[in-house]
Amino acid sequence: MCGIVGYVGPREPTEILLKGLKKLEYRGYDSAGLALFYEGKIKIKRCQGKLSQLEQEVQNSRYCATPVQNHFVGIGHTRWATHGKPSERNAHPHQAGPIALVHNGIIENYASLREKLLSKGHAVSSETDSEVVALLIYDHLKSGCDFEKAVFLAIQELIGSYSLGILCETEPNKLIAVRNGTPLIVGVGDHENFIASDIPALLEHTNKFIYLEDHEVVVFEPNSLVIKNIAGKEIKKEIHHIQWTADMVEKGGFQHFMLKEIHEQPQAIINTLQDRVVKDKNVLYLKDLKLSEDEIRQIRKIYLVACGTAYHASMVGKYLIESFARIPCELDLASEFRYRDPLIGEKDLLIVTSQSGETADTLAALREAKKKGAKVISICNCRGSTIDRESDSTVYTQAGPEIGVASTKAFSTQLVVFNLLALHLGLTLKTLTPEKAAPYVQDLVRLPYTLDEVLKKEPEIKRIAEKFYKKKTFLYLARGMNMPIALEGALKLKEISYINAEGYAAGEMKHGPIALVDEDTPVIILAPKDKYYDKVLSNLEEIKARAGIVIALGSEGDLHLPKVADWFIPLPQKSENVMPILLTIPVQLIAYYIALKKGTDVDQPRNLAKSVTVE
Ligand code: F6R
Repeated sequence: MCGIVGYVGPREPTEILLKGLKKLEYRGYDSAGLALFYEGKIKIKRCQGKLSQLEQEVQNSRYCATPVQNHFVGIGHTRWATHGKPSERNAHPHQAGPIALVHNGIIENYASLREKLLSKGHAVSSETDSEVVALLIYDHLKSGCDFEKAVFLAIQELIGSYSLGILCETEPNKLIAVRNGTPLIVGVGDHENFIASDIPALLEHTNKFIYLEDHEVVVFEPNSLVIKNIAGKEIKKEIHHIQWTADMVEKGGFQHFMLKEIHEQPQAIINTLQDRVVKDKNVLYLKDLKLSEDEIRQIRKIYLVACGTAYHASMVGKYLIESFARIPCELDLASEFRYRDPLIGEKDLLIVTSQSGETADTLAALREAKKKGAKVISICNCRGSTIDRESDSTVYTQAGPEIGVASTKAFSTQLVVFNLLALHLGLTLKTLTPEKAAPYVQDLVRLPYTLDEVLKKEPEIKRIAEKFYKKKTFLYLARGMNMPIALEGALKLKEISYINAEGYAAGEMKHGPIALVDEDTPVIILAPKDKYYDKVLSNLEEIKARAGIVIALGSEGDLHLPKVADWFIPLPQKSENVMPILLTIPVQLIAYYIALKKGTDVDQPRNLAKSVTVE
């Protein structure tokens, strides 16, 4: 949560910082601010609301920087409130004497630090935990330290998570950045350098990045950057060249990132399958999975842990792995995992799934499992993220940058990776013969083309969405491997349209949710022709008997379903392993078009942030 950018170089940085923040707005969007040097003094501009407010204020007040010895230094922030409600005074940067600071994370001991600082005569002007860090650095400056020393001393006192960008009026050529527990990367340019919470913020300027580890401090000066560990010792770090380009983080003609990302799914899946499947031979190569045959044979149990949409992907993963590889799986919400003192040990494997690779609870689960001796594999979309780096190996989803807060293409590529993983484990353990695997692999390889067909249903789905967008409650029902897609459909709808939506295993309906059904309740039933079809059909009849409105997603050629459902969206019938992915597209589109018609902010729904880096 919260996005940080910073710049040191020869260009006037207002636009660089604002554009960087725009790309980070998915991390938080309740207030924003900048700090620059103007004639040697720090000038701060902050305001409540979205970044567009700040852009407007910057324009109206002609806010800009002037160089110090031909160089500029600046920081910016977009906020997702933790301590203190969204307001101008709680917006970052925070100033304390000559210090201006932006922060992402939570300072857990801020209350005691604040007491200490107040007793020393410092004045507090916000309700945030972040301001305390600026005051702490100022306090050390007052006792005679230079800027760098003051930062080092201050961070020794902090408990919690913090990425920081800090300026000091008495050393106006310097930017100091700190990373601990929340993401921060360094962008390396030509005679200019940057910091940001995430890569998309800087793609317009560079594709060279340094990934910082916790407790690392970077001191930027014109034409130089020095990275130090917490003890102040200089360390050398590798510069990574990444393949993402600036146009990948633009809307490319679509009204929203979410719609663009829904349409990118066939390509994202092509990229995810590339070099991992040999089409005609039904052979799988998972080079990035560092698990030997022996290690696979020794797995006692697999724990699948994630949050939100990634948790739904893991739920499909459990079905796939248990069915193809016959290894028992346990599924956990990352936010619960460590609190139940899980019985995970050396013979077990943990698979964490995360688009961002920075989700605090997922990371904590990973660390808990490692502490208990388990091997950890991650399914992750962001190379260099903390989860990627701390896992024993990562199988990457090649979804490209996902900007819409509601996850779409990351989800479908996670399902593809779970397919690859389950097939690979099954083939290795011989619970699956190559002959038996063949149709599953073939349908996986053809999936991008099948999804193109499903995307053609968009106008029909849009019509349905526009008919029902005023309804107050939606139910989503399915069975078996498709059941997680009912949960995911409901999550998508509630997060972007704010409509109450519940996803259930269809068999659970009679145990409670059926009470919600009346003539005003649309029920979206996932009923492809599979082994659960007849049972799902009985559930459909039970809904119709209670006057519920049934929107059925089923198989092409099904002659019965269109007769009993009020609305029917036919989809290609494929093997069970890819059906959850096919069903995903319509539930994403239903949510999108309902939200669009309701007029909510699709890409930045209220109260949410893309990367949940606090617990
Ligand atoms: C919902 C959504 C969230 C994320 C969850 C985990 O559309 O995006 O539920 O799936 O916050 O995020 P990652 O995958 O980054 O760990």
